[in-house]
Parts: sequence; structure tokens; C-alpha cells
Amino acid sequence: MTDPSIQAVELTKCYNSFCALSGLNLRLEGAKCVGFLGPNGAGKTTALKMLTGMIRPTRGKALINGIDVQENKKAALSTCGALIETPEIYPALSVKEALMMVAEIRGVPSTVRKDAVMKAIAEVKMEEWIDTKCGKLSKGMKQRVNLAAALVSDPIIMLLDEPSSGLDPRGMAEVREIVKGLKKKDRLIFMSSHLLGEVTEICDEVAILDHGKLLAYDKLERLTSALAVGNTKECEASFSRDLGSDALKEIASIEGVTGLELVEPKRLILRLEGGNEAQERALAKIAGLGVGLIAFRPSSSALEETYLRLVKDSR
Ligand SMILES: Nc1ncnc2c1ncn2[C@@H]1O[C@H](COP(=O)(O)OP(=O)(O)OP(=O)(O)O)[C@@H](O)[C@H]1O
Ligand SMILES: [Mg+2]
Repeated sequence: MTDPSIQAVELTKCYNSFCALSGLNLRLEGAKCVGFLGPNGAGKTTALKMLTGMIRPTRGKALINGIDVQENKKAALSTCGALIETPEIYPALSVKEALMMVAEIRGVPSTVRKDAVMKAIAEVKMEEWIDTKCGKLSKGMKQRVNLAAALVSDPIIMLLDEPSSGLDPRGMAEVREIVKGLKKKDRLIFMSSHLLGEVTEICDEVAILDHGKLLAYDKLERLTSALAVGNTKECEASFSRDLGSDALKEIASIEGVTGLELVEPKRLILRLEGGNEAQERALAKIAGLGVGLIAFRPSSSALEETYLRLVKDSR
């Protein structure tokens, strides 16, 4: 079998004169997880909807495993599972009943339907809930059923639009674990998310979109290291008491400190320059000022910095 692939060729969607997506060219190939990032309104959902045939492109093509989604939707999507805009599940059906119905609609043959449903249930770790009515499930559990619904046809490609959005921290962690598990099955996963920590943890590659245009697509490490500013680091410092203007002036005058932003009276973002040694000296000095320093941590992940820079440059 050839590698799974998702391809957008000059993929464009315009609503009158406004283009939600402009000439997207992107080819994802092989078993891996690709994060799809971009600010609200960037065009991520629009792109995912065209890749799954939910809306028609104004121009260009969407191909799944080389098959044009517009020309032959059924064949193109036969190997693809998607979770785009959380669908409502019939509350009166049990998890198993709901998934059996989805499997039937998807055309899973009746002889293998039950096995396919049980396999999908196992993948989202819901064996204990198969007879629970969907209406009684928590939001996180419902999302797991939705993921199972995308899995009933045993897809080799998964398109997920913010799979953990709207969930509490535990629900997010559970969905994250499930998505990580999906990777192990030689699948190609294309997943939009606003959670850069989640993307850093799960994804091998990242595509960044803004204003309907692709800003970057590369391996995660390559993207973050290519755009890292050599010797500059951003740290967040927390203090036990409010920082007065005198304390701020003192910190600002320390060699190696090149930028300060007081985000809250007790929380400061610091830009430090000069490599590790210079930064070590600057941090020791701040600690020695007696202004109530209680914690230091990196202010943002490397991906966040890269993302913010790319998005800012595109505005
Ligand atoms: N049916 C529509 N008619 C007109 N404009 C639309 C329509 N659907 C989407 N848009 C616009 O297209 C742009 C892209 O929307 P899209 O939902 O793809 O963004 P997104 O990247 O998924 O954002 P978010 O991160 O908020 O989910 C937005 O400005 C949106 O308002
Ligand atoms: Mg969206």
C-alpha cells in the first residue's frame, strides 16, 4: 500500500470578495501527525472542510490519497476519518448503538460492523461505557465517542479540528493520549489546534496558516530552531510582592536584561541576552536584589515564540 497522503493544490475558498483560504498548496505524506495552527479566522476549518468534501472550493483541488475529493468523494474519503465541528450524538442511544449507526451510515459491511465498532471503542478506551446512554456522558466522553465515530471505518487518514477544544484539563489530557495512540497505527493525522503545548507533544510537523495563507510548513524542530533568535531567551519571573518602579528600574539596568514587560504587578516577562553565562549572571543579580523573587520559568515554548513571530510578521 502506498503512503497515506493529503494534498491541497491552490485550494481556495472565497465568500464574495473575502477569501477565507487563498491558494493553499500543501502535501502531507506518510504516517505522522501534522499540527495545523493559526489564529481565529485563519482558515483552518475552511481548509479541513474542503479536504473532507463538506464545502466546495472556489478554486483548486483537495486530494486524499491522490483522489480528488470533489470528483470522487466516496472513494477519496473511504480511507479517511474526520472530526470537524463536534456533532451532536443521539442522547437516547447507548455508545455502542450510536457507533453501530455511524458504521452503517459509513457503509461498514454488516458482517464486520460489530467488530469495527468494538475496535473503535477500544481505541478510545471506552469499553466500560458501551451500554451507557450518550446523553449521560460528560463532554470529554462525548468527544471520545466522536473520535470513535471517526475510527469505525479504520481510516489511515484522520482530519481533526481542535479535538480537545472546550474540554476541561482532564478531558484534554485524555483526548491527547488517544490522539497519541492513533499515531501508532501508521496513520496520517492532520489536526488543527490552538494548544501549542499539545501540538509540541503530539505533532511531528507543523503547518501555520494566517489570513488564508500558509506561512510555514516544516518539521517541528526545524521550524523552531530556524527561527530561534540566537542568544536571546524569554523568561517569566514571579515575585511575592508587587514590583514598584524602583525595583523595575533596578532590574532593567542589569547587564543582559534587554527587555521587561510587567504583565501583572507580581509577574514580569524578561528578555535576556548574551547566552547561558550572561543569563546566569543576570538571573543571579535579580535574585540578589531582594525584591521578592520566588520563581523563574521559560515564558513560552519554542513553538509559541516561532508561531507568534510568524503570525506577527504576516499582519
Ligand atoms: N459560510 C461563511 N460565510 C462567510 N464567511 C465565512 C464562512 N465560513 C467561514 N467564514 C470566514 O472565513 C474565515 C476563516 O474561518 P475558519 O472557520 O476557517 O477559521 P479558523 O482558522 O478555523 O478559525 P478558528 O481558530 O476560530 O476555528 C473567517 O473570517 C470566517 O468568518
Ligand atoms: Mg476553526
